Amino acid sequence: MSLVQAGKTYNLGGRDFIELTDYSTEEIRYLIDLAIEIKRKQKNGEAYQPLLGKTVGLIFEKSSTRTRVSFEVGVYQLGGHALFLSKNDIQLGRGETIADTAGVMSRYLDGIMIRTFGHDRVVDLARFSTVPVINGLSDLAHPCQVLADYQTIYEHKGQLEGLKLAYIGDGNNMAHSLMIGGAKLGVSVSIASPEGYEPDSQIMADSRELAAATGATIEVVRDPREAVKDADVIYTDVWASMGFEEEQKAREAAFASYQVNEELAALAKPDYLFMHCLPAHRGEEVSEGVIDGSNSIIFDQAENRLHAQKALMAALIG
Ligand code: CP
Ligand code: NVA
Repeated sequence: MSLVQAGKTYNLGGRDFIELTDYSTEEIRYLIDLAIEIKRKQKNGEAYQPLLGKTVGLIFEKSSTRTRVSFEVGVYQLGGHALFLSKNDIQLGRGETIADTAGVMSRYLDGIMIRTFGHDRVVDLARFSTVPVINGLSDLAHPCQVLADYQTIYEHKGQLEGLKLAYIGDGNNMAHSLMIGGAKLGVSVSIASPEGYEPDSQIMADSRELAAATGATIEVVRDPREAVKDADVIYTDVWASMGFEEEQKAREAAFASYQVNEELAALAKPDYLFMHCLPAHRGEEVSEGVIDGSNSIIFDQAENRLHAQKALMAALIG
């Protein structure tokens, strides 16, 4: 099973990974292929250590379970050493600039992953670093998650082009990266968000333009039933992302009719896949019956964070 012509490889050494817009359709397909191959190697116990002797810094300005653990384990499995750098422990948290942090860290490290608030912090870190920078989530984008997600869909469906993904809820970082990834890979993305919580209009326009090349359609609708109709994948995320906790109550009201539950899911194709980047709030954005039901592949997608990021680090830093 391969998304790329047999034998074709792409040299991505030294590149940053800030959003999927920076990568061509062929490069993204190559990364997914590589992730599937690296996953196979790991399951078969075959050593693959392109990061031997290399060190990757993991800067966290927000909480994390999956991203932290999958990056730390991934670097270890690739033969390298990972440094967990919480904002509470490094001078960045006391006001040292991104530029100075980037300059200094580039002298010690072979690659940097950052999870932060403003997307400009990721862009600036990459601009001032001389080693590859990977976006481990910003307020605007979560490309590592989406790389793993499209790998997971491909593994389950055996194809990407021509599928329909319905994203129900907040037009947030997840919605943005799913739209761009879908546009690049030929997956049509239908977003249903309440008024005032739609995805960023520039990202919307960019993804529509990208989708023209792959035949995908990218749309934002109001009615979740319209988005879910005949969908191959239903995706949702929390109503209040990290940094928006104080809006929780207002958001619960705004999103009340946007829960993914059995009634809504019945409008999708019978073999639809349910996906969620996690962490999830059962009983809010998704019912227990759907997230814990037989169409749910949440743990496959969580597992693939490990394989997708190993492929990314092998290609960029290895
Ligand atoms: N999906 C995801 O990025 O999870 P964490 O916030 O736990 O890293
Ligand atoms: N939209 C969520 C994703 C968490 C992985 C957030 O930013 O908090």
